[in-house]
Amino acid sequence: MNKFEGKVVLLTGASEGIGRALSMKFAEQGAKLVLAARNKTRLQELKTEIESIGGKALVVPTDITDIESCKNLILDH
Ligand SMILES: NC(=O)c1ccc[n+]([C@@H]2O[C@H](COP(=O)([O-])OP(=O)(O)OC[C@H]3O[C@@H](n4cnc5c(N)ncnc54)[C@H](OP(=O)(O)O)[C@@H]3O)[C@@H](O)[C@H]2O)c1
Repeated sequence: MNKFEGKVVLLTGASEGIGRALSMKFAEQGAKLVLAARNKTRLQELKTEIESIGGKALVVPTDITDIESCKNLILDH
């Protein structure tokens, strides 16, 4: 069941732990992911894993303690 087909899900903390696991679950259900966290390498690895199951993901390296970084995530993508 592709419950999230056509939906965009933005996850902060996507590079590890709960955020990473949720990213895969949303991708499995058809969502397009926006993956945010500081570690670009780990986000790119997750994007590759999502694409390997036919999903779509956009990597946006983000530090949520930095207002300019958050503006970039929300307003520029
Ligand atoms: N695991 C549990 O059982 C559990 C239970 C209850 C509550 N929680 C809470 O749920 C949250 C996530 O837990 P977790 O176990 O998944 O932790 P985790 O494995 O340490 O993952 C934390 C995530 O947050 C990101 N992050 C940290 N600082 C950031 C920043 N300044 N800007 C952007 N991203 C940032 C990290 O990525 P980067 O380092 O790449 O930025 C990573 O993706 C925590 O607040 C934890 O206290 C966890």
